[in-house]
Amino acid sequence: MVMRRKLIAGNWKMNGLRAGGIALAGDLAGKCKAEAPNCDFLVCPPAHLLISVAEAIAGSGVALGGQDCHTAVSGAHTGDLSAEMLADAGCGFVILGHSERRADHGESSSLVRSKAAAAKRAGLTAIVCVGETADERKAGRALEVIESQVRESLPETAPEAAEASLVVAYEPVWAIGTGLTATPSDVAEVHAHIRKLLVELYGNDTGSAIRILYGGSVKPGNAAELMAVGDVDGALVGGASLKLDDFWAIGRSCP
Ligand code: PGA
Repeated sequence: MVMRRKLIAGNWKMNGLRAGGIALAGDLAGKCKAEAPNCDFLVCPPAHLLISVAEAIAGSGVALGGQDCHTAVSGAHTGDLSAEMLADAGCGFVILGHSERRADHGESSSLVRSKAAAAKRAGLTAIVCVGETADERKAGRALEVIESQVRESLPETAPEAAEASLVVAYEPVWAIGTGLTATPSDVAEVHAHIRKLLVELYGNDTGSAIRILYGGSVKPGNAAELMAVGDVDGALVGGASLKLDDFWAIGRSCP
């Protein structure tokens, strides 16, 4: 059986000014140094904080990620950051295709796939997000929607070092920031389906090594139950990642 170390990723979204963000990252780094956690921690702050957060977490084992990247290396793309720029700022990861970007910026799965290729080019691990809306779930179409997002958003060629270079995050859109979470049995069904697709796309060894995160209102109170579900290899945490005690407690709930 493949052992996948859990990844607890904090998506700060568009939250945090310098003083608070640096203090939050520094406090998490301090806790990780004092008490080796049972999981990998990752923080994905907004772009203006990347370099100072990189300094605050240096040597702690906490990893740094961006929240999006452009497909090009450089050029006339006002307001965008390339994967190479994220790597230059100290990132090892980048979140791609988050439902807020799919909704706010009209990002398609094919664009997300191109961004995943850019991440690979820059040596970053892409965390590719997929998930159904409430209406799609009510209509019984959740697995179908997730399957097409997986097939169309993930890189065509297998990642080289699977655990290190690609992560999938299942985030039901209706569970993000709402306090609602999918039931453990729904999460188990979706994660098993994504695992089957990963094995089909990349072969057994690589497909079994890629981590699949659950995201959507993960909190200290529900984390242990969710992290115990088969094929749940960690969490993508929004709101609760902005509170040190909550984020740490989610990490501590990993079996
Ligand atoms: P949430 O956000 O934990 O606040 O629901 C999760 C996410 O959007 O990544």
